Amino acid sequence: MKMNFCLLIAIALCFVAVVLRGLPVPSSFSSKPQLDPLFYSKTCPQLPFIVYQILWNVSKTDHRMPASLIRLHFHDCFVQGCDASVLLNNTATIVSEQGASPNINSLRGLDVVNRIKTAVEKACPNTVSCADILALAAGVSSVLTRGPCWIVPLGRRDSLTANQALANQNLPSPSFNLTQLKSSFAVQGLNTNDLVALSGAHTFGRARCSLFVDRLYNFNNTGKPDPTLDTAYLKELQKECPKNGPGTNRVNFDPTTPDILDKNYYSNLQVKKGLLQSDQTLFSTPGADTISIVNKFGNNQNAFFESFRNSMIKMGNIDVLTGKKGEIRKQCNFVNKKSSELDLATVRSRESVEEDLVSSI
Ligand code: HEM
Ligand SMILES: *[C@@H]1O[C@H](CO)[C@@H](O)[C@H](O)[C@H]1NC(C)=O
Ligand SMILES: *[C@@H]1O[C@H](CO)[C@@H](O)[C@H](O)[C@H]1NC(C)=O
Ligand SMILES: *[C@@H]1O[C@H](CO)[C@@H](O)[C@H](O)[C@H]1NC(C)=O
Ligand SMILES: *[C@@H]1O[C@H](CO)[C@@H](O)[C@H](O)[C@H]1NC(C)=O
Repeated sequence: MKMNFCLLIAIALCFVAVVLRGLPVPSSFSSKPQLDPLFYSKTCPQLPFIVYQILWNVSKTDHRMPASLIRLHFHDCFVQGCDASVLLNNTATIVSEQGASPNINSLRGLDVVNRIKTAVEKACPNTVSCADILALAAGVSSVLTRGPCWIVPLGRRDSLTANQALANQNLPSPSFNLTQLKSSFAVQGLNTNDLVALSGAHTFGRARCSLFVDRLYNFNNTGKPDPTLDTAYLKELQKECPKNGPGTNRVNFDPTTPDILDKNYYSNLQVKKGLLQSDQTLFSTPGADTISIVNKFGNNQNAFFESFRNSMIKMGNIDVLTGKKGEIRKQCNFVNKKSSELDLATVRSRESVEEDLVSSI
């Protein structure tokens, strides 16, 4: 994975921005004006390089990580907005979203985000939010996997709360039909075009068998496979996901280019090779308005990239905290106020464990 031309331009623009400070930001960069791609151009100009360097290094050995990071941003934004609420761990006052059913045993990249945050804190202390790191990591991940590049609007702040119940409610299920998918996106202010474009993120990454195994053996309690599944692909999937197996095997979303962000997700749907029901339903729901959008993206990668870029920026704008709202967390897994108390609590509980050990000897 080499640094590509698109990224060079993005980085060059950041430099130009530093030099030409005061230049107005084109309004097309963000649909809501409160975020600004130049937000850290004075306070942390090296930010995009730090994110890029770490992710480039990580993805050399972990080819799945860019997919995992794009998903992390999505799971952040759909639950009380893009505010890094997904990163908060369980504490006395926080019920972590990581325990919600779409997230549990499923989220990846939390450690990578912490590694980025540590490097960023070293370079620019108390300046960059964890929510912005998630948005930047998603943008860099796209570029690293040959996807489109966009200038990431910045200036989000981090939440003081998390909402596990809302995560269960807002994150779409893999067995959703088109009506349910559309309404899940509409709740976030995202339209049908956004739904189809953002679903294109299922062109890389993996999914566990348990999330679609019903399609292989007993679809909708019919005792038969899903009729909208290509028969050769069905056989492959049955091999990877045995009947009555544990469901923990992981399968590539895209059998053709598993780690590349390209239009193959849509070409797969056109030949009934969508992995989840929520994927195939975009193309196989009779008479649906999503069919022509799938065809457009499947036949023209530039059209997909253009929409993906716009929809990612739109998703990144959902209910952001700006100005004096929220805070800039020091450690992404904890709100600032509690983290010192929590450190103490951890130390205390460790001490008491050791005391227990000692007293039991
Ligand atoms: C449209 C509704 C969606 C549904 C029902 C859905 C569902 C899922 C499911 C069930 C998985 C597999 C999780 C696992 O195996 O533990 C998954 C993975 C993934 N999702 Fe989605 N998703 C949706 C939309 C999105 C969006 C909007 C994005 C990003 C823009 C996205 C990005 C990803 C990626 C990249 C992965 C693979 C992650 C990895 O390999 O670590 N998904 N999704
Ligand atoms: C790159 O990753 C390796 C381990 O995967 C680590 O030892 C090294 O320090 C990293 N380098 C940079 C510049 O982050
Ligand atoms: C936060 O929780 C995760 C498990 O969800 C754990 O792996 C991680 O170590 C925790 N982070 C911190 C800083 O305690
Ligand atoms: C989708 O599922 C919902 C809830 O199960 C149901 O009410 C609706 O009729 C379904 N829509 C389609 C198009 O199948
Ligand atoms: C599932 O089965 C029910 C009736 O048993 C039917 O109404 C519904 O349309 C089916 N759903 C799909 C997605 O085929």
